[in-house]
Amino acid sequence: MKQFLDRARSALRPPIVATLAVIILCAAGVSSSSIGWSKMPHDILQPESVTPKTVNARNTPLISHVTSPAPYVPTGIDCSKTPCLALTFDDGPNPITTPQILDELERQNVHASFFVIGTRAVTMPQILQRMYKDGDEIGNHSWTHPDLTKLNAQQIQEQVNLTQAAVMSAGLPAPALFRPPYGAVNSTVRDTIPMTLAMWNVDPVDWENKDPNKIKDSIITSAKPGGVIDLHDIYGTTAQAIGPAIEALKPHYQFVTFSQLFNLAPGQRGEYFGR
Ligand code: NI
Repeated sequence: MKQFLDRARSALRPPIVATLAVIILCAAGVSSSSIGWSKMPHDILQPESVTPKTVNARNTPLISHVTSPAPYVPTGIDCSKTPCLALTFDDGPNPITTPQILDELERQNVHASFFVIGTRAVTMPQILQRMYKDGDEIGNHSWTHPDLTKLNAQQIQEQVNLTQAAVMSAGLPAPALFRPPYGAVNSTVRDTIPMTLAMWNVDPVDWENKDPNKIKDSIITSAKPGGVIDLHDIYGTTAQAIGPAIEALKPHYQFVTFSQLFNLAPGQRGEYFGR
């Protein structure tokens, strides 16, 4: 945690450091939380040792530092005319399987979007830096993956801000996209998070399927023009499936990041599922 704070101090401007310090201290001083994992369909995920506690109003971090989104430049491809596909990966990073997927994306010169869980991201800044350097997009998938519709506005802010801070502490711009865990949103979530809500419209259920060949086939058969494919970079089976799936789809689709698919302005509000 100290290393995280040191990196954060060197990477960020002083006003942000103050906000960040408050956020990190909130995260560090916790014992346990009722924020649940019971709905998690992905059996690999376990509760993390660090979870944010509920803070009082005086200490509630503001979400105002959600600025300077990543400069992901549109490709010049018009996805309203060209069949485009956005590969998206949730719940990482994972120290083994995420680099395997990044290797495959790089080998095939394909860019994707990674929606990271903050408690994991904060321990793997090198993987985030590689995503950014490779031209992949980093989105926020909350700090501990709770169902946000069960939380109040303060708790939702913590979930978002801590993960923004984790990405920024790796020396990277704050994400412009937020993917709600389980896709669960309500009016409080919508009103509280001033970011693009990045949903999906293609689910090959890679978390359920333990066979890489079946995952590959599922990705290929479920793909459609304008599709946002929801995958998880925490499974070895997904890492094995992704290369052959891209090879099969590449002749038919242009692979783009989530922001490129919708030609999003940074931080554009709204929920986006697919084209
Ligand atoms: Ni998830």
